[in-house]
Amino acid sequence: NGRPVFTIVVLGASGDLAKKKTFPALFGLFLHGHIAPQTRIVGYARTKMDRPDFLKRISQHIKNTTTPKVKVALDQFLDQCTYVSGVYDQDGGFQDLEKELKRVEHECKVQDRLFYMALPPSVFIPVANGLKKNCYTTKGINRLIVEKPFGMDLESSRTLSKALGALYREDEIYRIDHYLGKEMVKNIMILRFTNQIFGSCWDRDHISNVQITFKEKIGTEGRGGYFDEFGIMRDVMQNHLFQILSLIAMEAPASLNAEDIRNAKVDVLRTIPPVIESEVLLGQYGRSEDGAHPSYLEDDTVPKGSKTATFAAAAFHIHNPRWEGVPFVLKCGKALDQQKVEIRIQFKEMAANNNNLFGKDVAARNELVIRVQPEEAVYLKMTQKLPGLGMETVMSELNLSYNSRFTNLQVPDAYENLILDAIMGEQSNFVRSDELDEAWRIFTPILHKIDRHDGSIPVEVYPYGSRGPKQLPEFIRRFGFERHLQPYTWPETSQT
Ligand code: BG6
Repeated sequence: NGRPVFTIVVLGASGDLAKKKTFPALFGLFLHGHIAPQTRIVGYARTKMDRPDFLKRISQHIKNTTTPKVKVALDQFLDQCTYVSGVYDQDGGFQDLEKELKRVEHECKVQDRLFYMALPPSVFIPVANGLKKNCYTTKGINRLIVEKPFGMDLESSRTLSKALGALYREDEIYRIDHYLGKEMVKNIMILRFTNQIFGSCWDRDHISNVQITFKEKIGTEGRGGYFDEFGIMRDVMQNHLFQILSLIAMEAPASLNAEDIRNAKVDVLRTIPPVIESEVLLGQYGRSEDGAHPSYLEDDTVPKGSKTATFAAAAFHIHNPRWEGVPFVLKCGKALDQQKVEIRIQFKEMAANNNNLFGKDVAARNELVIRVQPEEAVYLKMTQKLPGLGMETVMSELNLSYNSRFTNLQVPDAYENLILDAIMGEQSNFVRSDELDEAWRIFTPILHKIDRHDGSIPVEVYPYGSRGPKQLPEFIRRFGFERHLQPYTWPETSQT
């Protein structure tokens, strides 16, 4: 199909991420013909296992394997996967890996290498080093996909960037934030910059506040070890939600070139001061009200007495002419009442309405909702005349729901999107080091305060399966969010 062909090396191939995300995504690309048949995939990890065990492991999360088409493709795909086991901090293993790479490259006449680092942070630099020393090809291109966490704070992130930067050029490094590969997140720039109606009201004159919300129903279940060290702010807000904020808030880039897009993102981040203590709300989930779900502290993988937050809300202020005075509130939590990610842009109320033309209670604020998942949708809440003889009003919506609008809808997986971008050398949906630096600058002071666990920022317990800390409605009201007085339900779900 004329696409570049890389040999793909998955480091940390026996781990959870590789099994759940990386290999299913690679297979998805293979199944749909997005990666060339001569692509070989080599797994590398410490675990000693033979090839059949490895293949079994990486197939575990691949879906629909009973469908004949998928079954045939899976057999072909697995035929192209091999495995090398070795340690992460000595040359021996990487030399074995190099031998395997030379073998498959010779067989397939391929020269370029894509290294996918699905690794815990502790071995990150040793592996980057081992690869540079032993497996960096001088015959073709080398690209490195790296997974978060990119450090714990500004200082550790800089140390990491420096160490990585000494080994690889910035154009060889692809820092993945899988939210940038999600369909609806990729749609943000298109919505903003191709539609006059949105483009012209995207500012402080029209918008009152912006809410970016991430909710998960499940708790930490088994991932407590990793999670507890990081907490929800580092796990989800500083990266995924902050990327969404940049895309919503940035100025139009000069072009669609990766550097122009990332420059625009960095520019807006530079106008945001660090989060302050009084503008943060933290929570940790307790047992569900019916007792069926354990609390965070009852999860065996969580250290006893942990004060780590599983819910966080924080306000951000962008000091530029477009956004001065418009709070951006980011909220994220685990073990909540529903699973959804959405962006809610709440507009100011209609000026004429201050005259009480129709009364304040009826002409509620417009809201543009961009639902990232599940069930991608864009809808605009608006006031309408209730059909009938009177002049009563009703809150309704202009509704673009992907499921009903697009037939045979196939939303690609975020990882498939991004791995393909890396193969194509397209860096706009990857995080540049200065972008990362800005994000850490904004979050580090508050994270350090939270890490002290000295009680100055209380962590409120909320029941598993609830809407989060009790203070949340008051918190978002403080930053300008107004709930509609009329009851409103978006017709696609039972939730408001
Ligand atoms: C990961 C976080 O980066 O994103 C997880 O570490 C979180 O805690 C996940 O559950 C959410 O991703 P998605 O694609 O399921 O929304």
